[in-house]
Amino acid sequence: MNTATLTAQPTQATATAARFDMYQPIHKGLRNFLCDTLSRVGRVDVFDVQDLARTLAQLEALLGFCTQHLAHEDVFLHTAIAARVPGGAGRTVDDHAEHLHSIEALRGEARALLAAPDCERMTLALRLYRHLALFVAENLQHMHIEETANNALLWAHYSDAELVEIHDRLLVTIAPAENMEVLRWMLPALNPVQRAGLLGEMKAHAPAPVFDAVIDLVRPQLDIRDWTKLASAIGVAQQAGLVNYP
Ligand SMILES: [Fe+2]
Repeated sequence: MNTATLTAQPTQATATAARFDMYQPIHKGLRNFLCDTLSRVGRVDVFDVQDLARTLAQLEALLGFCTQHLAHEDVFLHTAIAARVPGGAGRTVDDHAEHLHSIEALRGEARALLAAPDCERMTLALRLYRHLALFVAENLQHMHIEETANNALLWAHYSDAELVEIHDRLLVTIAPAENMEVLRWMLPALNPVQRAGLLGEMKAHAPAPVFDAVIDLVRPQLDIRDWTKLASAIGVAQQAGLVNYP
């Protein structure tokens, strides 16, 4: 899909700004994870064993994240769309099958790079980088379709209360470790209002040790300006290591 085609499509942002959008926050996190990993693979030092291992570990974490994300959307969102608009999510259902093939191909290229002799590593790293770039590009276009066409179907055929109920059912299936990884990439990618809203809810309802762990996770990912805004908005101390619970 070219840029002209994308920009010609209505985003419906004005008409539907107030609707519950379960795609947007997680997709901001996924875009963050995809682009950061692509950049790291592009600059990896293939002759530095630790740098190579760390970079490929992040790539594997990304691919695992993508696999889980596909499953969540298949089980909860595509099923919801199909229940009220049979075939309505056909395009993104097909995309998901293609993405799973791409994920396995990228894993194979990563394994080949890790096992290769020094003389082949530059070539294999460049191949991996280019193919990962194509995967990122495909995901960016795919997420745009989900956030426009799929959301339009969800908003037309479900109330916000029903969508929140679907989202809640999805969230309880996410294991704590997976949830922390989601938050690691999603929280820095949200705007300050979204970030404070999510963490304010968490502060009000999650056990204090869980909230502390999430704050420790997100603080290093924010610059001082964003951290100061967040700390002020949700009522935590701005100094590292001093979390307040008024
Ligand atoms: Fe998707």
